[in-house]
Amino acid sequence: MKAVQIKPDIYWVGAIDWAVRDFHGYVTPHGTTYNNYLIIDRDVTLLDTVKYDFAEVGIATLKSVIDPKEIKNIIVNHIENDHMGALGAYMELCPDATIYTTKRGHQGMQRFFDTSRWKVREVKTGDELNIGKHTLMFIETPMLHWPDSMMTYVKEARLLISQDAFGQHLATTARFDDEFVECASHAELENAVIDYYANILMPFGKLIKSKIKQLQEMELDIEMIAPDHGVIWRKEPMRPVEMYLDMAEGKTNLRVAIIYDTMWHSTEILTQPIMQGVRDEGVDCQVIKLRATPMSVAITEFWKSRGLLVGSPTLNNEVFPSVAEFITHLRGLRPTNRIAAAFGSYGWGGGAVKWLYEQFKAMKLEVVEPGFQVQYRPQMEDMDQAYEFGRQFARAVKEYHKNFQ
Ligand code: FEO
Repeated sequence: MKAVQIKPDIYWVGAIDWAVRDFHGYVTPHGTTYNNYLIIDRDVTLLDTVKYDFAEVGIATLKSVIDPKEIKNIIVNHIENDHMGALGAYMELCPDATIYTTKRGHQGMQRFFDTSRWKVREVKTGDELNIGKHTLMFIETPMLHWPDSMMTYVKEARLLISQDAFGQHLATTARFDDEFVECASHAELENAVIDYYANILMPFGKLIKSKIKQLQEMELDIEMIAPDHGVIWRKEPMRPVEMYLDMAEGKTNLRVAIIYDTMWHSTEILTQPIMQGVRDEGVDCQVIKLRATPMSVAITEFWKSRGLLVGSPTLNNEVFPSVAEFITHLRGLRPTNRIAAAFGSYGWGGGAVKWLYEQFKAMKLEVVEPGFQVQYRPQMEDMDQAYEFGRQFARAVKEYHKNFQ
C-alpha cells in the first residue's frame, strides 16, 4: 500500500490487517490496522513500527516515500508486539538511527531484542526533540496501554500521535474519521471506540481521567489525533477524548444486559420473562447467550449497559463454566459504576447464584438482592415471578442511573 499524507511532510506508513479475527483473545470482526507515521524533515523520523508479520508490508509502504536508510530517529511509543514487533527489521535498514522511548520502554525492549548495538535514548514527559522544522514533545502515559507507553505531540503540526489510546480495531481503506463515516457510519465508528475501550482500557478509567486532565493542563493545541489503530481523527479530533472522559466518568446507557448460559434451557427460559419485565419498565435490554457469543462482544454489551443480569445453572454445585469464564474476564477489567443481580436454575442444590453475588461484591458492583432461581424447570408461577424480578431490577437500575446524570 502507498503511504498517505496526513499533514505536510507527515505520512501514514502503516499496514492494514484485514484478516485478524482474534487479537490476543479479543475478537476483531472488522480486522485492524497497525499505524505508524513518518516525518520528512532534516532528521527523518519514524514513529512506531508495525506487527512483526507485517514488517514487509510496512517497509514497502515506507519505501513509497523514502529510502529507509535516511531515517535518523525512531520513536517507540509502545513496546507491545503489534507496534514494536518489526523494530528489528526496520533497524536493519537504518542501523544508525537513534531510538527514543521511555525508561520502561527501554527496559522492555531489551527483553525482545539485542539492543547492545542500538543507540537508545530514554525520554520522559515534557522532553522535546527538534528534528528540523518540527519539534516533538513526549508525554508518558503509563498503563495506556502498558507501563512503557507514551504519546508524541508534534508541535508545529498540532498533531498528537496517541499510540493505542483513541484507537479502533477497524481494517479499512479510510485513513480518516470523515472518510470512514462517509463509507460506513458515525455510529459504527463510535461503536468501535466503545468496543476498544471496553475490552482494553476499562481497568484504567481513573488513570485515563487524570491523564486527560494533564493533557488539558498542558494546553496542547490539537488539530489532529493519530492513533496506532484504526482511523485518524481529522474532522472531530476531540471526539474520542470526550468519549473516553464520559466512559471513565461512568456514563453509559440506561440499559440492561442479560448475560447467561444454560444446560437444559431452564435458565434460558427465564431470560424471556425477565427481559419482558425490564422492557415493561421502559429500560432497553440486550440478551446474550455466552456460548453463542465471543467473550469480547459480551464484555462490550455489558459496558454499554448500566445494569447487568447474569444467569447460570448450577453444575456440580458450581457456576456454569462459560459463566465463570465471563466473570473472570469481567473481574480482570475492574468494572465500575454498574448495578448487578443474578438468576438461574438448579437440580438438587444451588450454588451458582450465591457464587455470582460473591463475585459482584468482590468487584464492588452495586447489587440488587435477592437473586432469582428455580428448581429443575420453570413453572407458570416461576415465569410470573421472573417477570417481577425483571421489573424490580429495572426499577433499581433507573434509580441508580440517576447518579450519573
Ligand atoms: Fe496496540 Fe498495546 O498495543
